[in-house]
Amino acid sequence: MKQEEEPMKRLSRREFLKSTGVAMIGSALPLSMVKVAFGAERPAEDFHFGYISDSHIQHLGGTNFVRNWDRGLIRAVQEANLLTPKPDFFIYGGDLAQLGTKEEIDHGLEIMSKLRGKVRYVMGEHDYYLDLGEYWESKLGPQYYSFDHKGVHFVVLNSILTHDKWTFRAWPTPMDRMKAMARLDNPDGSPFLVGEKQRAWLKQDLEKIDKDVPIIVCSHSPLQKIFKGWNFWTDDAEQVQALLKPFNKVTVIYGHVHQIQYQQIGNISLHAVMATAWPWPYPKSYTQVKNALPVLTVPMNRADPFFERDASGWQFIDWKTGQADMHYQLPNNKDRTVAFNRKTGRPEDLKYQNPKTRIPPQEHF
Ligand SMILES: [Fe+2]
Ligand SMILES: [Fe+2]
Repeated sequence: MKQEEEPMKRLSRREFLKSTGVAMIGSALPLSMVKVAFGAERPAEDFHFGYISDSHIQHLGGTNFVRNWDRGLIRAVQEANLLTPKPDFFIYGGDLAQLGTKEEIDHGLEIMSKLRGKVRYVMGEHDYYLDLGEYWESKLGPQYYSFDHKGVHFVVLNSILTHDKWTFRAWPTPMDRMKAMARLDNPDGSPFLVGEKQRAWLKQDLEKIDKDVPIIVCSHSPLQKIFKGWNFWTDDAEQVQALLKPFNKVTVIYGHVHQIQYQQIGNISLHAVMATAWPWPYPKSYTQVKNALPVLTVPMNRADPFFERDASGWQFIDWKTGQADMHYQLPNNKDRTVAFNRKTGRPEDLKYQNPKTRIPPQEHF
């Protein structure tokens, strides 16, 4: 499940020379060379990549799809195509489809085909629970894999698996299973899992990586426990975190929550991405049930509560500091940046960290 990234032929001679020799070739080099190039004294090379997630393309029948969800993804693709300089690649963070049908996946991929650049996909629960990822996999390849890019080791996980006894119980139809998992506030759902098999694979995948090589893990559900009632939660998050603990610089980027969140857990910086479809409210606003919204998260500006898609968008991620600087692009609101602060050792939203500088949300009764 290893994918090759950025073959040498894509490097011009000038770029190659500029890279001071071996530093930028990443996985094309023997591991010992990667270690030399990206040891503690030398940060990985600057690059940026785009991240689009949670479009929830929804089929209404015939040739009809929910127009709003189409428009969100189309807009993200159009804006991402205008980025200068061009991102090295894109990651799609999961929930391309709403109910995992071929029509939805095909329609979503048709819109995504207009995006100029390579795209790697993460599995979301809305893509998965109809046919357990079969059609998605036939179009997009393995459900979990790793690749190297300019000195950074990327791992893509399928974090939305769950217990076999739930997945394979006697559902009337596969669509009943899909709908049971598709709801946000769902008493008949089941907590997400990376699972034992994939954790064993991850352990093996990471064994060959030097501890100074930065790791970026892309998952759909948060690899932390935020709010179980909405499945903003991965049941074996601690076990996955333990596998990442030996590395000096780890970043986890996840979708699913449709809102900006950021957190630092030990050596791991965690960032959520927005949806192109709709924003979820913060669980905190529903305080009937205990939740653990990361304390570092500064709420998104949803200045207009009557515009239901305020706070949806997409993001590009800048690696120039050797950590993920998340640039959130909100088509209908002010852009946001959550960057790693070396002084405090955690991601921060400098503009809005101070409550006094935030745009006050409107209240309505
Ligand atoms: Fe989603
Ligand atoms: Fe999701």
